[in-house]
Amino acid sequence: MPGAGKLEATFPYGMPCSRFWNILEGVKTTARGPVESEEFVARSAAIRRVVVLADRVAQTDAPVLLTGESGSGKEKIARHIHFRSNRSRGPFIPVNCGALPENLLESELFGHVKGAFTGADRDHKGLFEAAAGGTLLLDEVGEIPPAVQVKLLRVLQDRQVRPVGSAESRPVNVRVIAATNRDLEAMVSHRVFRKDLYYRLNVIRIEMPPLRARREDILPLAQGFVRRACSTYHCGPCSLSAQALDRLLTYQWPGNVRELEHAMERAVVLAEGKPKIEEIDLPPELLGRGGPTEADEALLPLAEVERLHILSVLQRCGENRRETARVLGIATNTLWRKLREYGVINQGDEPPAARKP
Ligand SMILES: Nc1ncnc2c1ncn2[C@@H]1O[C@H](COP(=O)(O)OP(=O)(O)OP(=O)(O)O)[C@@H](O)[C@H]1O
Ligand SMILES: [Mg+2]
Repeated sequence: MPGAGKLEATFPYGMPCSRFWNILEGVKTTARGPVESEEFVARSAAIRRVVVLADRVAQTDAPVLLTGESGSGKEKIARHIHFRSNRSRGPFIPVNCGALPENLLESELFGHVKGAFTGADRDHKGLFEAAAGGTLLLDEVGEIPPAVQVKLLRVLQDRQVRPVGSAESRPVNVRVIAATNRDLEAMVSHRVFRKDLYYRLNVIRIEMPPLRARREDILPLAQGFVRRACSTYHCGPCSLSAQALDRLLTYQWPGNVRELEHAMERAVVLAEGKPKIEEIDLPPELLGRGGPTEADEALLPLAEVERLHILSVLQRCGENRRETARVLGIATNTLWRKLREYGVINQGDEPPAARKP
């Protein structure tokens, strides 16, 4: 894998090398420093265009706004930009702006000084300073509350942060990439997102296409995820049957690449070491059994509706059973019992807490 600078020289736009574009394999180091080591699949024309644009902007410090549906690869492309830039030796720090309440978000981003508020018993460096020399990904940027939006705008304009409770500002050298799956323009017109901040973030806009709009990526992505799951679960090599592949190619993938990743991990687990993943190993949604039509719903017994719903939530929670039980509002023991009834887990399996030492 060539370094960023060589990319366009070796494979100029319009002269694709199919091997190169199928999978951009990360390597551990280049002349520019460390780059990510995971595979970046870019077979479809839609994603190739994204990569070409990303490689161009990587050479600059221009703010980038990544938009696209959930799970479509916004963070993946943000990492790509960072590792192709001359900041690649610096940190890449993603922060989920929607996960923190207003006061905590402000102190996480900009830091605070000792005594700034109750419990602030020492100085705390914010993520802007922690990302110095590197890239800060402001994920879910549309969730930032108005009071923090004003402060963020000031930091981006002045390239200085003022920690909470401090009278002094400190210079910061950070490249900011923002990401959102919300319609920021609509939020601006409804006055819930500041127009000036929007313009400041939206210098270069990169729209991640949904997976259903780039079907050529499905197969190489699925194969990569299967390989990775086989290695995680220490199974032998495993491939997808023709029928399973057909299901992958016709499904709409509302959860995009992340949904495909979880579906392949689940399939490898359910295939239990078989060399081929069959249709039956795929999540119910892919087999047309996940979302009953209105006509079907009227005819389904209650127990079947419950089974479909539980399996659907399990799949959406990335097969995390504790999270599934939490979302469903039932005890983990109850979930385990139902999964045993459905044949999803073995008869002897019990929740970890209930296992005898
Ligand atoms: N082109 C790709 N090649 C390989 N893996 C990919 C690619 N795009 C996405 N992925 C993988 O899919 C998963 C979801 O991607 P990512 O987290 O970047 O999505 P996102 O758009 O940031 O999602 P969200 O909106 O929920 O934050 C990750 O595990 C990522 O590594
Ligand atoms: Mg993300």
